[in-house]
Amino acid sequence: MQTHSTIASLRAALDAERGAGKRIAFVPTMGNLHEGHITLMRRAINHGECIVGSIFVNRMQFGPKDDFDRYPRTFEADCAKLVEAGVHHLFAPDEQQLYPSPQKFVVEPDPFLQTTLEGEFRPGHFHGVATVVLKLFNIVQPHAALFGKKDYQQYLVLSAMVRELNLRVEVLPGDTVRAADGLALSSRNGYLSEAERAEAPRLYRLLGAMREKILAGSCDYDALQAEAMAELAAHGWTPQYVAVRRRSDLKSPTALDTGLVILAAAFLGTTRLIDNLEV
Ligand code: PAJ
Repeated sequence: MQTHSTIASLRAALDAERGAGKRIAFVPTMGNLHEGHITLMRRAINHGECIVGSIFVNRMQFGPKDDFDRYPRTFEADCAKLVEAGVHHLFAPDEQQLYPSPQKFVVEPDPFLQTTLEGEFRPGHFHGVATVVLKLFNIVQPHAALFGKKDYQQYLVLSAMVRELNLRVEVLPGDTVRAADGLALSSRNGYLSEAERAEAPRLYRLLGAMREKILAGSCDYDALQAEAMAELAAHGWTPQYVAVRRRSDLKSPTALDTGLVILAAAFLGTTRLIDNLEV
């Protein structure tokens, strides 16, 4: 694996790969890699002969009270995992490289998509995500890019960006990778105490139970949502939302809509966990 800390070095290497007729498949990350990230890297080989990963903790997508400073940085261990996964090029720029001067041209996602659910509780988050991903797309110029459905709304925002701005990249989703007890893998799971880690799988169990109720015919989504929020609160969580939405656009469904997804975000202690499940 070649590691590039500058745009110039990465571009030169990828020009050569493209010159040799290879398609480029790209997986952007913020590092602290786990099986969720690595599964995307491994799947990338189905979409290109040259696999590019990136590691960059993007300050622009973190709010003032978010965990930017304490976000886990484990570069050496990450590199070993990327080599093992068969990644050919790693782009790991510093902030000076990606943001040499204040970023004044920015991407503003669809007003609804960027203010609902995650957007309501993390104002500005998707504007930061979309801006850095557009920059990364312009630097890497991949044929395909893979994103996890663990961050369902992020996947939708980025798919919409590519569609509306006519970017020449195929955005592909990857299924959520989970621990044996159901907890979605996340870099933030490392913040959990032992007791919190034991409690954490409740979130996924709850989504599973809601899914069963919906499949059995229940369509009073407001009641289902309220019930789920109350159950989390009763077990010491601070839920932000549990919401049944349409998969295609995250709008609230009518009783006739199919193709749903249940999304949730809740604090367990000081750790914010998110998860979702398609129905
Ligand atoms: P990060 O949280 O590091 O995630 C990188 C990619 O891995 C994202 O596409 C995310 O959805 C995926 N991922 C994380 N956990 C996963 C899991 N358990 N199963 C499947 N996929 C999983 O998402 C970001 O970084 C950033 O917002 C980024 C897109 C890199 C822009 O800064």
